[in-house]
Amino acid sequence: MTQLPGLLDTEAIRKDFPILDRTIHDGKKLVYLDNAATSQTPRQVLDVLNEYYEKHNANVHRGVHVLAEEATALYEGARDKVAAFINAPSRDEVIFTKNASESLNLVANMLGWADEPYRVDHETEIVITEMEHHSNIVPWQLLSQRTGAKLKWFGLTDDGRLDLSNIDEIITEKTKIVSFVLVSNILGTQNPVEAIVRRAQEVGALVLIDASQAAPHMPLDVQALQADFVAFTGHKMLGPTGIGVLWGRQELLEDLPPFLGGGEMIETVSMSSSTYAPAPHKFEAGTPPVSQAVGLGAAVDYLSAIGMDKIAAHEHAITEYAVKRLLEVPDLRIIGPTTAEDRGAAISFALGDIHPHDVGQVLDEEGIAVRVGHHCARPVCLRYGIPATTRASFYLYSTPGEIDALIDGLEHVRNFFG
Ligand code: ALA
Repeated sequence: MTQLPGLLDTEAIRKDFPILDRTIHDGKKLVYLDNAATSQTPRQVLDVLNEYYEKHNANVHRGVHVLAEEATALYEGARDKVAAFINAPSRDEVIFTKNASESLNLVANMLGWADEPYRVDHETEIVITEMEHHSNIVPWQLLSQRTGAKLKWFGLTDDGRLDLSNIDEIITEKTKIVSFVLVSNILGTQNPVEAIVRRAQEVGALVLIDASQAAPHMPLDVQALQADFVAFTGHKMLGPTGIGVLWGRQELLEDLPPFLGGGEMIETVSMSSSTYAPAPHKFEAGTPPVSQAVGLGAAVDYLSAIGMDKIAAHEHAITEYAVKRLLEVPDLRIIGPTTAEDRGAAISFALGDIHPHDVGQVLDEEGIAVRVGHHCARPVCLRYGIPATTRASFYLYSTPGEIDALIDGLEHVRNFFG
């Protein structure tokens, strides 16, 4: 068995993930390499979810009965856990949403309805990058269409990194918000936060970081990032679907208007007007995703017990090994950085002129789950002149043996398509 420095004890970890024992297609062992799309759930999280529904299920913040109080304590306890996990200065800066897309849309809409000095209008500019997930492109296009604000973006270099050579022309005195991804879901690129934040701060622009592919994989310290908002999602970090997070600086959350109206987010309501609860509740209209937040809290406990620095070291070793082995495959081109430095654990590639859907299908028959397509980042495919990619993405339970299985599977694909 291949041994690499920095690996976690995957034999022990994998025992926590029942799904990883599955076989598919007549006894083929499942090799799950689609972690950038969604991660698997450990027993510890499943147990907490079960216990929640077996013992505590109720609506939160609304009842005086025991179950309502227990559910509220669990939901708000999850907020404490997430706040500690990202080193938020205050638990009130953690807003629960349904996913990262909702978190990003929430910021776009806060700014769209805001007064000065935050308002986005026809005299202002919004900055994103060409490597964004659609969820960090479309909300800004919508805001730009609604307000007349100009949408600008950083382009990409041939080796899959941000082209910041014109940073002073892209981020200007007119820029209201710079929103960019920390780790690309398609290229794997890890972006240089400091340079972008420094320039944004020079011109007084707000910064939103999409950390969907970072929060699950590396220590995330929102204070060190020096951004104004950070968005991520639960299901990519061992939690359930239906729960996302938006962290925002307290004074901004106090100043900015809510987007969704309803129960939970108000202080008083009359027929003609309402006043709002303080953040985070101001931004959590309606019954929130209670069990999902509790599950995310359990996922955060699980990740923290192992240690995010150790998880990052494990994934670095796995990614380095995967890059090396993939580059040995004839006709294979990695779309994105070809070193393990400053990159995450998602690797996209093209295999000769075999369509990625064919690659994915033959791999699936071998038990290997990868994602194929444009990965909700179509502008990246357009930039590199490809219709789609095959993407393998790893996590704390990924092993060198699974990389070897992928390489064998690709050999099979090549033979199959001659
Ligand atoms: N954003 C997820 C992915 O990259 C769905 O696969």
